[in-house]
Parts: sequence; C-alpha cells; structure tokens
Amino acid sequence: MAASWSMGPGTLEVPMSLFAKNRTRLAEKLKPGQIVVLQGGESIPHYDTDIEYVFRQEAYFTWLCGVREEGCFFALDVGTSKSYLFIPRLPAEYEVWMGKLHTCEDFKQMYAVDEVHYVDEIQKVLKGLNPDVLLTLSGPNTDSGLIAKEAVFEGIDEFKVDNEILFPIIAELRVIKTPEEIEVMRYVVKVSSDAHKQVMLFAKPGLMEYQCESIFLDHCYRVGGCRHVSYTCICGSGHNAATLHYGHAGAPNSKLIQPGDMCLFDMGGNYAGYAADITCSFPANGKFTPEQKLVYEAVLFARDAVIEAARPGVMWPDMHLVANRAMLEHLKKGGLLKGDVEDMIKAGINGVLQPHGLGHLLGLDVHDVGGYLTACPPRPPGPLARLRTARRLQPGMLLTIEPGCYFIPPLLNAAKNNPEQSKFFDWEVVDRFTGFGGVRIEDDVLITETGVENLTFVPRTVAEIEDFMANGANFK
Ligand code: GLY
Ligand code: MN
Ligand code: MN
Repeated sequence: MAASWSMGPGTLEVPMSLFAKNRTRLAEKLKPGQIVVLQGGESIPHYDTDIEYVFRQEAYFTWLCGVREEGCFFALDVGTSKSYLFIPRLPAEYEVWMGKLHTCEDFKQMYAVDEVHYVDEIQKVLKGLNPDVLLTLSGPNTDSGLIAKEAVFEGIDEFKVDNEILFPIIAELRVIKTPEEIEVMRYVVKVSSDAHKQVMLFAKPGLMEYQCESIFLDHCYRVGGCRHVSYTCICGSGHNAATLHYGHAGAPNSKLIQPGDMCLFDMGGNYAGYAADITCSFPANGKFTPEQKLVYEAVLFARDAVIEAARPGVMWPDMHLVANRAMLEHLKKGGLLKGDVEDMIKAGINGVLQPHGLGHLLGLDVHDVGGYLTACPPRPPGPLARLRTARRLQPGMLLTIEPGCYFIPPLLNAAKNNPEQSKFFDWEVVDRFTGFGGVRIEDDVLITETGVENLTFVPRTVAEIEDFMANGANFK
C-alpha cells in the first residue's frame, strides 16, 4: 500500500508521493554531484522548564519530505535522485516514556524514502556518496526578516558547502503548488470554512470572544484533524475589530460581545503543515444595520472586483489598487467619502481605511515564502510597501484576497488634521462610525489558467449571512 498520512476516519489521506514529487521538481533544477541537506525542526521548551511547545515541523523540511518528527535531517542526492532520512538515535528508555521506538525500517516505510540512518551517521553516509558539494538552505524570510535554519552537523566542515544556490530555487518551487498540494489546501480551507460557519451559528451578544475562538478550534481539530491553527486566532468584536493583530497576549479575545457589535474573526486551521487563513465579518446578532451593511458591502465589492480581475499575468499591486478603488467608490456612494476616487488614492485615503496589503501567498506558511525573491519585482515604495509580494500572478499560486475597511482612531484623527486628506471625508457621517471597529473579508484562492478559483466556502453576501445565521442549515 502506498505510504500516506492522515488523522483517521473522515480526514484527508496525504500521500507521501506529494513530497516525492517536490523532490523531483527540485532535482530537475539542480545538477548531479550536488546533495541537498536540510535540517528539520527541534522541540522548543517553555523557557527553562522541561515542558515543550507542541512540535511544529519547519516548513521547508515538510515541503521536501513530510517528516513530522523532531531532530531529523534529510538529504537528496541529485545525481541518483535517492533520498536519505536521518533520525535521532534515541535511548531505549524512550520506549518507557514516549512509546514505541520506531526502527529505521519503520521510518523508511512511513515516509517512502530510499534510506534511513541515524543522525550520528550523517557525515559517514554523505561521504560515501562522494558529492561535489552539499547545498544547504540560507535566506531571508521577507515577512519576518528572520533567516532560514541552515543545516549543521558534526563533520560538515569536511565537505564543500554552498548555502546560496538552494534558497531561491526551493522558495520559488514552494510558490507554485502541485495538484497534490492543492488537494491538501482545498481540504484545510474547507475544514476552516466549516469551522467559521459553526462559529457564525454559535456567536451572539453576551458571549465572550474567546468562546467563539474555542468553537473554531474544536471544529478544526475534532472534525478536521487539524492539531494546529496557522496563527493566533483573531476574534475582535465591536471596536476590537479595528485592531489588526487583536488576540495577542495583552488582548486575548477577552471582550464581551455586545448587541450591535460587528464581529471580525480571522482564523485558519493547519493540516499536514498546510495553512488556511480566512476572515469572516458579521453582525453579532445576525442582522446588519444600514451602517454595517454599507461598510460590509464596500469590502465585498472590493473582494468581488479582485476575484473578477485576478488572472495569470496581472501584477499583485494592481489588484490591491483594484480593491481600493472599488471600496472607495462604494463608500462614496454611501456618503462617507466625497470627491474623485483617483484623487483619494493620490492623497492616501485608501491607506487610512485599509492600512494593510490586499493579501499574500499562502501555503506551508500562512504568509508564504517567495514574496520578494531577488528575481521578482522588489517591494514597491510608498503606500504599497506593506504588500507581502509585488509579483505577477501565475497559475498554481495560492493567495489570500483580504480587503478591509477599519475605523482606526489614530489614523482617522491624523486624516482629520491633514487638509489634503480631510476634504475627502464627510466627517458628520464618519463620526457616526466611532467605535464601529471594522470589516475584513478574507478568501483563500487558487490562480488557475484563466482566473481565480475560490477555495473558501462561507456565507458572504449580506443576504447569505443573515439567512445562515437565522436558519443555519439552509446554506449549501
Ligand atoms: N491572519 C493573518 C493574515 O490575515 O494575514
Ligand atoms: Mn487572516
Ligand atoms: Mn491573511
């Protein structure tokens, strides 16, 4: 039987051939004589204690081999296409505390690799392959500024090592998803969509925000087998919806949801390392006020405009502006803004109401790699600098489309005091939105040969949301 991994009945079987295909794609870009060596993740203790965080594998390592255990190395010999997994040699006592000690042969079957050895044998095994050069991974993550974890083992100094060739090649390969990877993404986005729907049915004034978070976590894990979420859940209600990174330790989704609040819930499950990232915004009591409808439909109009316009060949910064224009146009019709939309954009009104970028690449990392590789367009100057990529869209890319409109007091106050910006707002109307918070609509989409396939499946129009929150089961 072909090797695969799943979380049991009802969850997706992820075939190990998914990772073998990634290795084939990588080997095609490299030369015989080169051996790729990656080091997997280590467990991380809570400070000086003997308690550890639930382990998460490093994403490049997952991409190459799908191995879930900590403390491993992996090598790919480009000349022979053979794959080598190196596992920690654990003491016999491990079996007492941690369970069955898997043998090298067990690992070979589990991960469908050619050879499995212990980490303490890596230098000897690689020497035997007589490589010209070992390729290790080193390069910046352009979202965090942190550097990828480069493989280091005892005796590596006896090899010629190149740490520049691999990074741009493997990061670029991660940007374009294979059909097998798209299947996993489809699954995790579906599970996360269903979890959001459960939250919408559950949410109501009088609950704490974190109680909604717990419904999401429960569905993703209990039903979908997602042990992790892709990032800290953001469950902002009322004015908290305008705090873009709400949910952190100082604001842990801990407000009581009030009648009249909008909820902005940004949450995504993670399955087999692959990330979903979905935001739903809806009125806590299930019925939009005219003000809520105006702002919500402005954001939905922006989302629809991008879904319509995005296709292979278009530039992502242009999609950002498509969204901004649509949203400003709608807010102008609703009486919140006045003047010419192009002039508004020149004056930066788009950045006052939506200070973040339209969206980002999505995959094994929620803000996935490849946004600003050297061969790609650089980070744009000025107001578009917050975009996590400025790339031209290609089939097989997965991205979020996540326009938003927020009433953020310091940004609105600054605009009010800036004559170049102030003139575009009808302040009497805007002031009615004090404490409103904000709206974001975030979908996970695949770029196809001809356009966009939206993998997200949640109630999105005002009518769909109101109907779903009133009569749940009717939304198909
Ligand atoms: N949840 C993070 C983001 O939307 O990018
Ligand atoms: Mn998000
Ligand atoms: Mn996102």
